[in-house]
Formats: sequence, structure tokens, C-alpha cells
Amino acid sequence: AANFIRMGHSVGFSLFEKSKFYGKKYYCQQVSKEQNTFIPFLDMIESRREQAARSILVQVQSEQSYKQLFTYCESIGKVKNMFHYSEGPEPLHFIIVEFASDVDIKNVFAASTHIQENQSIPATSHFLWFRAASKKLGRLKQDKNARLSAEHATQLISETDLCRELAQCETVSNQIDKLYDLTRLNEVGQRLRFLTAKQVESTVSGLFPNICAYPFGSSVNGFGKMSCDLDLVVRLTQDKENDNSRLIYHCKAASGTERSTAQRNMETIGDLIHLFLPGCSQVRRILQARVPIIKYHQQFTNVECDLSMSNMSGVYMSDFLYLMGEIDPRVRPLLFTIRKWAKEVFLTNHSPGKWITNFSLTLLALAFLQKPLRSPAVLPTLNQLVKSAGPYDNYVTEDGINGTFLRDIKKLHFERQNTSSLHSLLFEFFEYYAQFDFMNKAICLNEAVAIAKPEYSPLYIVNPLEKGLNVSKNVSMEELERFKIEIRNAAWILESQESNVGDKGLLSIFETKNNLKQKLNLSFSPKHNRLLEVNALFDEDEEKKIEFKNVAVEKEVAK
Ligand code: GTP
Ligand code: MG
Repeated sequence: AANFIRMGHSVGFSLFEKSKFYGKKYYCQQVSKEQNTFIPFLDMIESRREQAARSILVQVQSEQSYKQLFTYCESIGKVKNMFHYSEGPEPLHFIIVEFASDVDIKNVFAASTHIQENQSIPATSHFLWFRAASKKLGRLKQDKNARLSAEHATQLISETDLCRELAQCETVSNQIDKLYDLTRLNEVGQRLRFLTAKQVESTVSGLFPNICAYPFGSSVNGFGKMSCDLDLVVRLTQDKENDNSRLIYHCKAASGTERSTAQRNMETIGDLIHLFLPGCSQVRRILQARVPIIKYHQQFTNVECDLSMSNMSGVYMSDFLYLMGEIDPRVRPLLFTIRKWAKEVFLTNHSPGKWITNFSLTLLALAFLQKPLRSPAVLPTLNQLVKSAGPYDNYVTEDGINGTFLRDIKKLHFERQNTSSLHSLLFEFFEYYAQFDFMNKAICLNEAVAIAKPEYSPLYIVNPLEKGLNVSKNVSMEELERFKIEIRNAAWILESQESNVGDKGLLSIFETKNNLKQKLNLSFSPKHNRLLEVNALFDEDEEKKIEFKNVAVEKEVAK
């Protein structure tokens, strides 16, 4: 496992103890954003983890059950917040109940029980159900103070409604903002992801009391949409500061290589999730990958999870991406639009393969925003952040990954002179990469210039935290070509759009797939039908035909 060492102090250091150095702990609500309060990444993570520890997820009979649930919970502890959401075609209803203090939640667990008479495994986690009232249990008075902070809070906006909303905007820039507002991960989505992480921790903690499940990736870096997956890294032990203890726990020595031990441990965690964690299904073990992962679906929270152990570099990376999103309010809306465009024109795909990923796209967009092109740069480079780092920003893992960069943007010396509209920035992004010399140059976020490619790979994006690695090594030449074609198309379409949404504005760059989707039933028709339909569709355009044929085949192969 990667071990975090605070440089210059030569002591082991737990990642989340960091927040002590930022003084006051913040309570992370979206309201803080409106007040323009910057919350450092680690503080945000810690406050969300602590919030999840004080919360339970309760399955109830209907959305009206919250009134009785409130009365019942208030008889045990102080309720701070309640949120309702429902899942499935015949909806199951759930309420997140957040209690005011650690004592309250302890009392809640003490007052909860397992069903005795069936064969179920008596797992104890933050996921419970609210038994219907009966003569024996008695009816509860409905408290007038019962209030939901949100109802149906995880409902996704339909494509039709989204298009309608976007069509009503006045400018392309407004459309970009609107897309972000309507599709980003909301408050309840975030709480559900931290509760999903908490479930793993609380169930395995009997064996490993120091276990920590850290969310990373788009669930926490600010680039996640409502249905985004949850990337989790699980560590079984925490580093201790100044550990001079002379009594050391006996532990079993690992046999085999570090990798085979890690794979075996992952296998066991996979079994625990499969056998003992309520609501967890479709457990898949992908142990041969460079970073072995366990995939599973948590059906109560409706979250798809990718769980790994040991590789903490993703957490540093999330910290860096989060910071970039916080520095300028245009970054996240712009990124949402670019990700949406890439999905609509089939450049990205759920399953891993030789196509570009959302993560690579994010780095491409951030690298563009760091360049002083027609106007001053929107974002600083990583090197600028490294130079501004203070003594408490110095992190390096045992395996040498350097995560040292400024965390507190209030201390950032960076001239914010760029005032371009979102529309212009989006167009310039397409234009910049339409002309980019992918053949010879690598994209680099450490400095403001593209550097010479260190090795042959169709697309080379330097991993900003592990400079020897290319994060887009998976991208094939054909996929890069498709990317270039689509990016030129988008630049061309967008250039012809007025800043006022006269025709369709932003919607016009998403169109390819919408047209295709209407004409082909891509998800259900058999492969050969699909290809025939693609052929018929693009009879007059040979290049496009080949292009889409490739996509259809790849989708099939991926399946
Ligand atoms: P979504 O598509 O919304 O899930 O975006 P994401 O950023 O969460 O991407 P993903 O789930 O694929 O990966 C999660 C995190 O793992 C990323 O944010 C990165 O920090 C890290 N990651 C993903 N792919 C790579 C890669 O190729 N190299 C490295 N170094 N890190 C990666
Ligand atoms: Mg993810």
C-alpha cells in the first residue's frame, strides 16, 4: 500500500489529518458555493465522511413515511436533515436521515435490530428499513416539524426535457451553464456516494478497525454528473504520527509477490461485498488489470462502484482536478459540455477500450485552459501551483508519486485576467485541438507549452503527477482520427452559431448521435441489422459511414 509521508517531517501521516492545518472545519453544503467560500479538497472530503458517519439510509413504504420516520428518529436523537429519493420503475422509497451528533447515531444503532427469524446474515451498516406500523409496535403521531430538504432528489432529467431547457436559453454561454446546473451531481447524489463508501468501511471494520474507503474521481472532483460511478480506494491501515509504541500487533506475513497478495486480498474483499453487504450485487473481479479492481452495484443508492486498494494517486489527482474547478467558475460548465459532446458523438464509451476516456478529455480541456492563446490563460499550470506550495502541501507517496502543490487557492498568485465567454472558450477549445500537432506533440499540464512526444503513442497526455506515464496510452490511431474529425466538425458548427441561440446553439454539436439514435435502435437490434442500418443511413457519405460502422462494431465487441 502506498504510504503517505509528509516531507520534511519524516513521519507517517494520515491523508485526512491534513485538514487540521486548515484551521476551522467547514460544513460542506452547496450553499457555501453561493457564498463563494473555498473549501479545500481534504476538508470537503473529511466533512462529507463525517456527515455520512452521522447518517442512515432508510427504506420506507412511501414518500409520506418521512413524517412517521421523523417522529421515531427524534425519539432517539436529534434529526438534522432528511432527504427523500426513489429508485426503480416500481419505485422503492428511501430517506437519508442525518443526525446532529455522533451520540445520536450511536443511540440509533443501539435501538436498531436484525430480523431474527430468517436466514439472513446479520450485517450492521448504515442501511436500514423502517418496519410498517402494527398494533404491537403502535402508531406514531406525526410531528409537525417533520420536513424533507428534498424529494425525488435523484431523478435524472430526461434528454427531451434537457433539450427543451437548453433551447429556451438566450445564449450559447447560458446553455453551457444550464447544462451544468441540470446534470451535475447534486447534494443527495454526493451524500449517497459517501454512504456507499461508509457501508464498505463499517462492514469490514470488525476485522480491520482502521479501514478507510476514500472516494475519488468524478464523484468528488466536481466533474461528476448525476449518474456518475463511485471510485473508491480502500486502505486497511492508517499511518500514525510519532508512533513510538513498543507493542506491535502480530500479523500474518504475506506470501507471494506484492501484486499476488494484493490480488488475493481484493478477491476476499470482493467475497465480503458479495456475501455480506446488503444491496450489493453484480460483483465483478477485474484482478489482472494494471490496477486490480472490484466492480459492484449498490442497489439501495443506485451507485456503480469501482473499488481498488492501495493506489492513492487517484486521490491526489482528484485533489488537483477539484482545485482546477474551484479556481475558475467556468471550468466545470465547460468540462460538462465537452464530456456531453464527446458522449453524444460516440467518442467516449462506458466500457474501457481504445477510445478516449472522460479523464483524458478533462486533462485535454484543462491543458487548453492553461494556455495564453487569444486571451490570457484561465488556469495556472501545475508548476505554478507547485512553486506556490506551502510547508503543509508537501506530499509524496512511498512509491514516489509527488502530490506536492498548493491546496489553498486563497494563497494563489495568479492574474485572473481572462474574461472570455463560455461560448468563446468552447469554440477555442475545439479550434485549438483541431490544429494541434498530435503527431509530434504531447499535452502537458505541468507547463504552459506542449512538449515533444517522449515516445510513440497516437495520443500522448503526460500524467501531471507521474510524468513518465501517458494517461491516454489506450487510445488507438483510429480513435484519435475520429477525435480529430469530430473536433473539426464541432469547431465548424460552433463557428457558424451566433452567440444568441437563434437556431439551436449548443444543441447543434450534440446532434450526430440524436439523429442516429432515432434511426437506429442501437441498444437492442442485433449486430448485423445495426450495421446494415448504419450503411443505409450514410449512403452518400463514405467517410462517415466507415466512422460509424467502427463505432457500432466496437460497441458490440465491448459488450
Ligand atoms: P467518470 O467518467 O465520470 O467516472 O470520470 P472519472 O474522472 O471518475 O473517471 P474514471 O472513473 O475513469 O477514473 C477515476 C479516476 O481514476 C480519475 O479521476 C483519475 O484520477 C484516475 N484515472 C482514471 N484513468 C486513469 C489513467 O489512465 N491514469 C491515471 N493515472 N489515472 C487515471
Ligand atoms: Mg469515475
